[in-house]
Amino acid sequence: MARVFITGSSDGLGRMAAQLLIEQGHSVVLHARNQQRGKEALSAVPGAETVIIADLASIAQTRHLAEQVNALGSFDAVIHNAAVGYREPRPIETEDGLPHVFAANTLAPYILTALIKKPKRLVYLSSGLHRNGDASLKDLAWKERPWNGQQAYSDTKLHDVLLAFALARRWPDVLSNALEPGWVPTKMGGPGAPDDLDAAHRTQVWLAASNDPAAMVTGEYFYHMRLRAPSPVSRDGKLQDALLDACKNFSGVEFPSK
Ligand SMILES: NC(=O)c1ccc[n+]([C@@H]2O[C@H](COP(=O)([O-])OP(=O)(O)OC[C@H]3O[C@@H](n4cnc5c(N)ncnc54)[C@H](OP(=O)(O)O)[C@@H]3O)[C@@H](O)[C@H]2O)c1
Repeated sequence: MARVFITGSSDGLGRMAAQLLIEQGHSVVLHARNQQRGKEALSAVPGAETVIIADLASIAQTRHLAEQVNALGSFDAVIHNAAVGYREPRPIETEDGLPHVFAANTLAPYILTALIKKPKRLVYLSSGLHRNGDASLKDLAWKERPWNGQQAYSDTKLHDVLLAFALARRWPDVLSNALEPGWVPTKMGGPGAPDDLDAAHRTQVWLAASNDPAAMVTGEYFYHMRLRAPSPVSRDGKLQDALLDACKNFSGVEFPSK
């Protein structure tokens, strides 16, 4: 039995993953953006251990979330699932002066990875759109570029793969992988999304908790429990390190050396 923490488990694939893990006999701690969403998450996922509240768009709340996770003890796996989508028509600035999409999708998983006591496995939700992500890492805060919501989202999903692979390289004692769930009809995906919703949450569950040797690998990228080639730039160690540095500068959170 594994103990798993899942960000963004009040809805969509995070909630479905939590339900499936519990069905399989694992223990799950949920996360939601506020108290109301937390209550809804707990009633939608009976059997969850508890729910922790934090808005991932806030650096302070994300840091506090890591403290709360650590106060609960250790976890076998952390699934970095929460994200905001690609349809923001204009940049929404966070209390830290950053675009909401970058704060929630890139900076929050960085901060949580750096501050949560090392689990045995890390899982990062990316997207096929990561292949359109800007690998220059220029203007991550969108101060100079004209806003483009889909580009901003794609950039962050490339960052999520870079994070997963950076961790695989830096922490050989942890299994760290990324995946794309397919374009599926969640709140984010929208009602017309064509891929199979019932298959979308299974890869993160499998990577977090299965003893299948195919799931017990590190530095890999998956789609529907099968290896898939990520963007080749995601394998660039210098780019991975540059992203960690940029996240450190934006958040003030140091990345542990071991
Ligand atoms: N659906 C797709 O077609 C698709 C395709 C490719 C990749 N993905 C990836 O799959 C993952 C899950 O997506 P989904 O489709 O399940 O999305 P979703 O249905 O919109 O659910 C996203 C979850 O993240 C939470 N969340 C978002 N921003 C947050 C914040 N600032 N603070 C705290 N929680 C926050 C949401 O909370 P609320 O419920 O309160 O909003 C919700 O629980 C994401 O990483 C996404 O990029 C999805």
